Amino acid sequence: MKQLVNILFLIFLVSCGKTAHFEIKPHDTNEPRFSWNYESDAQNVKQISYRIIVASTENLALKGIGDLWDSGEVFSDKMLYIPYEGKPLQSRDKVFWKVFSTISYEKNKTVSVESDVKYFEISLLNSSDWQAQWIGHEFNDDVLVGKTRVAARYLRKEFKLDENIAEARLYVSGLGQYSAYINGVEVVPDELLKPALSDYRKRVYFNTYDVTEMLRSGDNAIGITLAGGRYTAMRRRTTNPDWDFTDNVLHFGTPRMILQLEITYDDGRKALIVSDETWKIANRGPIRTSNEYDGETYDENYDLGDWTVSGYDDACWSVAELVEAPAGMLTPQPNPNIKIQDTLIPVAIYKKGENWILDMGQNMVGVLQINLDGQQPGDTITMRFAENLYSDSTIDVRNLRGAEATDRYIVETRHGASPQWHPMFTYHGFRYVEIRGMRGIPSTEDFRGLVFYDEMQTTGTFETSDEILNAVYRNAYWGIRGNYRSMPTDCPQRDERMGWTGDRATGCYGESYIFDNHDLYAKWLDDGEDCQLESGSICDVFPPYWRNYTNSMTWPGAFITVADMIYTRFGDDKPIREHYPAMKKWLAFMKDKYMIDGIMYRDQYGDWCMPPESPELIHSRDRDRRTRKMVIATPYYCHLTKIMAKFAETLGFVDDAEYFNNEFEVTREAYNSKYLDHHIWRYDNNTVTANILPLYFGMVPEGHENDVFENIVERTEDLHGSHVATGVVGIQFMMRTLTEHGRGDLALTIASNDTYPSWGYMVRNGATTIWELWNGNTADPSMNSGNHVMLLGDLIIWEYEYLGGIRALEPGYKKIQLKPYPIKGLDHVNCTYNSVAGRIESRWKRHGSRFEWEITIPANTEAEVWIPTKNGYKVKTLGSGKYFFSSSIII
Ligand code: BGC
Repeated sequence: MKQLVNILFLIFLVSCGKTAHFEIKPHDTNEPRFSWNYESDAQNVKQISYRIIVASTENLALKGIGDLWDSGEVFSDKMLYIPYEGKPLQSRDKVFWKVFSTISYEKNKTVSVESDVKYFEISLLNSSDWQAQWIGHEFNDDVLVGKTRVAARYLRKEFKLDENIAEARLYVSGLGQYSAYINGVEVVPDELLKPALSDYRKRVYFNTYDVTEMLRSGDNAIGITLAGGRYTAMRRRTTNPDWDFTDNVLHFGTPRMILQLEITYDDGRKALIVSDETWKIANRGPIRTSNEYDGETYDENYDLGDWTVSGYDDACWSVAELVEAPAGMLTPQPNPNIKIQDTLIPVAIYKKGENWILDMGQNMVGVLQINLDGQQPGDTITMRFAENLYSDSTIDVRNLRGAEATDRYIVETRHGASPQWHPMFTYHGFRYVEIRGMRGIPSTEDFRGLVFYDEMQTTGTFETSDEILNAVYRNAYWGIRGNYRSMPTDCPQRDERMGWTGDRATGCYGESYIFDNHDLYAKWLDDGEDCQLESGSICDVFPPYWRNYTNSMTWPGAFITVADMIYTRFGDDKPIREHYPAMKKWLAFMKDKYMIDGIMYRDQYGDWCMPPESPELIHSRDRDRRTRKMVIATPYYCHLTKIMAKFAETLGFVDDAEYFNNEFEVTREAYNSKYLDHHIWRYDNNTVTANILPLYFGMVPEGHENDVFENIVERTEDLHGSHVATGVVGIQFMMRTLTEHGRGDLALTIASNDTYPSWGYMVRNGATTIWELWNGNTADPSMNSGNHVMLLGDLIIWEYEYLGGIRALEPGYKKIQLKPYPIKGLDHVNCTYNSVAGRIESRWKRHGSRFEWEITIPANTEAEVWIPTKNGYKVKTLGSGKYFFSSSIII
């Protein structure tokens, strides 16, 4: 079972004549949109028409009767986001749908195909749907640790049901985090850290589950474990004296929950169980304290027994109190929960003094499951998590700063420990674990690393003949998924774990190839909108758990670029439609407040993490390497106005499109006249970033692009020895700029270097993820996470779009460009991507000057295929199918 994620966006795949596979995706509206794609080996498959039927019963849908909506036959090749136009749908409606389509294939053959029947269900859309109330309890004996951790609450309720239960739905939210149990069984045990994070003053997410099978006639019990999560303690105090967020951290309150269980019997009768004062609550259960950053303490002496089954004696439990509802709107969660998606067995265990040290072999994100067999009453087993070791093989936790990252298990004094345990309400970023207090000689088999992140498909694969490129890609894969925590985080281990916007402004496009991250990022944009102040200012972190309203273009600019990613890569313009006014308001605010004569002066972070000149430094102090603030902020403003002009055109806002195009031109003029040296065609102090930004954004005066480009090459090669020469901002455009202007070889050198500074250097120094700093092995540990993805810049985009050569020419890959760049030094590239339009493949090999290329173009799309030859590219337009090309090239 998984969370029923409300109104659904559906994708189904049809192979010629046969139904293949459906996938249900979430949406939180009563205006569903329908999407599908085809799986077919036939060539030239094109959709001629489609018909969608939506029915109130499965039977009607099976018979092809759409009593709620019948689109009729629509002659169109559209297959993404087709809006429902039927009878209005209400909360709780269960709706069945099916698609019929006519397709042509090969040379004018046609066939009619139809999908299976699938269903979706509307969640609770209105506050009037809720009869439940928020409950909790202020306990005097909470086990508080530095005000950052409270004891978990246990809430329970028994109830009786009649026979013949037809359907049962559980709607539940628990703040900060909850887990639910019915009749002794956990509702989806592999989901953790739910519900999704939000600014609880604006929005609170609830989950929906089909629990029909978990209930029975007669006595039933439901139980909820509730932990503070980020609702109660955002983050432990920092130990870094430079960062004082005492007044800058939000706390929302003590844990609370709301729950509504709705049962429908075969004869249509209903029963309702809601959270209210009839519930019982206890805080003297085994989870004594928990906090995402610090870890969890579990004491078996407080074991509550079978508290989630009926007949349990809860006489000594307290009565739940009605508590104030969080100010935020109760909203169906639009994205899947975090789920265990991988399991690691440690690669080594060794003894160090009294302790055991466990090596997972991989810097992973999740929790450790431990076998406690053989532990004795009264034992305390303490697990401390770390990314690094000191040279004496003990754990190095300096880069965790104020996060304690420690789990504790206390074995019961009477009965002995239960065999397997993992914490419920915390997570760690770690490769190593120090285990104290464990008896016997544990083996690696006694442990499992449970790897979790937002449930989503892995959609891409990428592999080349270059081992460094492959290793870096693998590290990126681990780093990206380890930093999905219902928002993209900066890092998973230290006292931070925030949705830092700037880290993803461009990275999100690359990530979209590897993961189907549509829902995660669409939800993150809601967080972005929620954080906007009346003035228009947007926070640097979404949700704004840290109140960093510093007003840069680069960091909050992700509010615009992420929407562009969702539009161009997934073909979905809804985030643009929803957030366009807020984006426009933000840009107007920035312009009014910080722009003087066409120059944007405000910027907070600069070209963050530019490789510093000495191994201990975090930030470069060399003025020659640093790019000035307005030299970053002004081009970035141009970049964003260009995207906004495109959005305005898409939405049909003609005046706005003109306005933003004009903004671009005016700013470009002002910028060039102030910061471009028109004799030697250099921008400002000639850093690589100073030149890359205007060049990539199309700001350089026509005819002088190559002059500007030469500066980039010269600086990169001569001053930086063909290594990365930009910080987090410049690197977002570096690989593409070099390759577009004919220096793909230099891009490849940068990508396959293993000397400082490079991604390969990290690999050579044992990294299994991507570091926060290029000198992550030598710099000050206070800002030195081992698992940050911001330094990836546009590397992944370059790998898929330039090496593999897979690009969207139209939003959602309706029209594709396949254009690989064979670069000297690479003998083969294998790249596959399951796009929303279907599976795209590009695999090439080079033997001397012979170039062999296999491609797959998905059904109902068209590709502009650029075949490399001796005389440049030969371009063909092809319909779907698999093709093979062999050509002779000069390299
Ligand atoms: C975070 C970064 C973030 C930066 C901005 C750091 O502490 O880890 O990822 O973008 O701050 O200042």
